[in-house]
Amino acid sequence: MQLHSPYLDWDAQKALLDEIRDIVTKAPLFTPTMPRWGRPLSVRMSNCGPLGWISDKSGYRYEPIHPDTGEPWPPIPQSLLDIWSELTSYEAPPEACLINYYSPNAKIGLHVDSDEDDRNAPILSLSLGDDARFRLGGLERNGPTKSFILKSGDALLLDGEDRMAYHGVDRIYPGTSTLLNEPGRINLTLRRVTTPSGRRNHSM
Ligand code: SIN
Ligand code: FE2
Repeated sequence: MQLHSPYLDWDAQKALLDEIRDIVTKAPLFTPTMPRWGRPLSVRMSNCGPLGWISDKSGYRYEPIHPDTGEPWPPIPQSLLDIWSELTSYEAPPEACLINYYSPNAKIGLHVDSDEDDRNAPILSLSLGDDARFRLGGLERNGPTKSFILKSGDALLLDGEDRMAYHGVDRIYPGTSTLLNEPGRINLTLRRVTTPSGRRNHSM
């Protein structure tokens, strides 16, 4: 894991927030539900990029269209593509940017990001708004975990052995940032979903 705290200064956070607000007017936040039972998650979501992560009764997956509007997701802003290039040395651009919106009581249980075919690419996360307590474990659900605070402007890279590590968000600390107009937090995760085609086989 690599934590850059902060990575974005105030002006860059504001500029990114404006871009995310614009995306969310085109692709409104939806309420994902758990597979099978359909219990709603406390986090609301949207996406940008050719693919977006969704969850409903049929399961977790990536889809090219918004589940409520049926429209393609808006493109990933150039500023986010530039951050991906700066912080990862990955050979291909991200295909999905999941936008998580946490109201003060929202949280996300321990999980692994495993719906991507490409497990070599890192997951790059950017935080805006109130502080969150992030929990990072290992490859086993019941293994030891550590927790730390993610602040507005922080960039966290889950790479190497942490790419498939259990992680979650225990809680939000409302009122710790004035970036958003109300208490809450936005987290963006940039993901490569498909395996890049034309990958060179260095052993040949
Ligand atoms: C996630 O794992 O999907 C979100 C992580 C975060 O909100 O920091
Ligand atoms: Fe995750």
